[in-house]
Amino acid sequence: MILVTGGAGFIGANFVLDWLAASDEAVVNLDKLTYAGNLENLRSLRDDARHVFVHGDIGDRATVDALLQQHRPRAVINFAAESHVDRSIHGPAEFIETNVVGTFNLLESVRAWWSQLPAGEQAAFRFLHVSTDEVYGSLGPTDPAFSETTPYAPNSPYSASKAGIVGMTLPLARDLGSLGIRVMAIAPGIMDTPLLASAPTELKESLARLHVFPQRLGTPDDFAHLVQAIVENPMLNGEVIRLDAGARMPPR
Ligand SMILES: NC(=O)c1ccc[n+]([C@@H]2O[C@H](COP(=O)([O-])OP(=O)(O)OC[C@H]3O[C@@H](n4cnc5c(N)ncnc54)[C@H](O)[C@@H]3O)[C@@H](O)[C@H]2O)c1
Repeated sequence: MILVTGGAGFIGANFVLDWLAASDEAVVNLDKLTYAGNLENLRSLRDDARHVFVHGDIGDRATVDALLQQHRPRAVINFAAESHVDRSIHGPAEFIETNVVGTFNLLESVRAWWSQLPAGEQAAFRFLHVSTDEVYGSLGPTDPAFSETTPYAPNSPYSASKAGIVGMTLPLARDLGSLGIRVMAIAPGIMDTPLLASAPTELKESLARLHVFPQRLGTPDDFAHLVQAIVENPMLNGEVIRLDAGARMPPR
């Protein structure tokens, strides 16, 4: 059993569908169903006993504690977030609430539950947080591409809220390593989201050109396969992995 948060959103739903197409391991899907969550994304799983949907908030410790006790997941994959940059400029409060405080509460619940597991289950446990490449800020046309060592320079409340947790990835991995917990984060570039579906082809092509190679938008499959690889590779720890084809973001 794995626990996925935000699994009614764009990437989360695609991850759940992809996971259950490849494996019979069940998924508990915790989602608050904000304006961005849509159960229609998961319609094909309506009668599938391997998918357990729970309507709730990642920041609600009582709900998360009960889910962990009941389902005993071997991994947590945190997709839940306020994720639309423009909304963060008009109303940052929800971004801090979910992306920083909510994520922290989720980590605390998982840590408390994990600490009383038998040693074998502790060693095998995984927590994967999904970030964004926007934590690195913007690039001019002649700047070198971002790398994992580029300093954080978030330019919006959205990216600042993500940077708050990215900054904790390595310290948390070092703190929790002696307990056998790995901490990893993913920073995706520009994904082919439903928001872009109605955009003109030229706009999509110009966004794809920001990716150095391959020069296309990211897909849910790219994302799902990286999550699976991280969960399965025991040597990965304390790192933020960019999934953005070497993107060059223009200054704005
Ligand atoms: N889509 C992209 O292009 C992109 C790029 C970079 C990073 N990301 C990151 O990837 C992750 C998934 O992105 P997405 O495009 O699927 O986002 P989305 O906005 O489509 O979905 C987010 C989901 O999280 C749920 N949610 C929000 N707050 C919650 C809370 N407090 N508790 C439980 N559920 C909550 C929403 O209901 C929704 O289903 C996010 O962390 C996002 O920041 C996405």
